[in-house]
Amino acid sequence: MVHIDVQNLSVYYKGQPGLRNIAVEIPRNKITAIIGPSGCGKSTLLKTFNRLLDEQEGIRIKGTVLVDGEDIYADKVDVTQVRKKVGLLAQRPQVLPMSIYDNVAYGPRIHGVRGRKRLDGIVEEHLKMAGLWEEVKDRLKSPASGLSIGQQQRLCLARGLAVEPEVILADESTSALDPISAETIERRFMELKNDYTIVMVTHVLRQARRLADYVIFLYMGRLIEHGPAQEFFDHPKYAKTQGYLSGRFIEEHKIDRELDLKCGEFSADMKIVRDEFGKIKPGQILRVTVDREEAVGEMSGSIESDGHRILEAKRVGKISWEIVAEKQKRIK
Ligand SMILES: Nc1ncnc2c1ncn2[C@@H]1O[C@H](COP(=O)(O)OP(=O)(O)OP(=O)(O)O)[C@@H](O)[C@H]1O
Ligand SMILES: [Mg+2]
Repeated sequence: MVHIDVQNLSVYYKGQPGLRNIAVEIPRNKITAIIGPSGCGKSTLLKTFNRLLDEQEGIRIKGTVLVDGEDIYADKVDVTQVRKKVGLLAQRPQVLPMSIYDNVAYGPRIHGVRGRKRLDGIVEEHLKMAGLWEEVKDRLKSPASGLSIGQQQRLCLARGLAVEPEVILADESTSALDPISAETIERRFMELKNDYTIVMVTHVLRQARRLADYVIFLYMGRLIEHGPAQEFFDHPKYAKTQGYLSGRFIEEHKIDRELDLKCGEFSADMKIVRDEFGKIKPGQILRVTVDREEAVGEMSGSIESDGHRILEAKRVGKISWEIVAEKQKRIK
């Protein structure tokens, strides 16, 4: 079942696109990993899920993000409620300058929970969920800043869980941790996913393989590929994904001609493509945009059997796909 539904989402930083036309559905109670090279928009995408971007200046957000079917960017929406439902675990743990206990009790207090006994219960429960209880139960009143970095990250997790979110966003939450602490957090995620939807950004492919049920691959602000983790890693569909997974340099193509084929019929469209290939020189590159996924396979097949080379085929929007092909270099 879909928990977060992203439609035609674009983000501009002072006019520069950070995300372009993203469409993706994030399933409930699963772990979705967002991967891609530095600067591709991973953190940006994550932050659009709990409206953490709005606070920055010069940002423009277009498109829709539905959480449980509700548009979180609608006018009447209470941002505090969105953030309660969709919590963020940052890359570096940021504990509050107060005791371990108060860090966990902070959120519930803000949301109106009162009474020593109730708060004690909440603190214990969530420290246990974050796998920190045994280590800190005898020093709950000491400052949180005295904990190790790995413990601080688990405390942040406990603090986040204590407001009872439905979604946990984690932005490289293990990158500042030693291997043992990272593994502890990973294990927590695996246990928590039965009750929470987790969206995690990671630049560690092995971590995505270990944890993710679904993977989103971003490249230069675009969603290149998305799917169930095993299929994604074992049989990536697109050249860019294959390049990224195998650590190869991802080529950018210089496009010589473009064709935008909308709502056509396959053989008529293919004729237009062949005519276009007739006009360009060998070695030149044609980009064809289509609005049906089936057209991608059919058309790529025909283009290849005509002797041209498919450089890339990928989804670029909710209903648009691109095929990039190079005209045959040698005349047959
Ligand atoms: N506040 C900002 N102002 C201007 N540009 C920004 C801002 N934040 C991000 N960007 C730009 O938007 C793009 C996406 O950034 P983002 O932080 O989402 O990338 P990322 O995939 O999380 O990278 P990394 O792996 O390095 O954390 C980058 O080109 C970045 O320079
Ligand atoms: Mg980032």
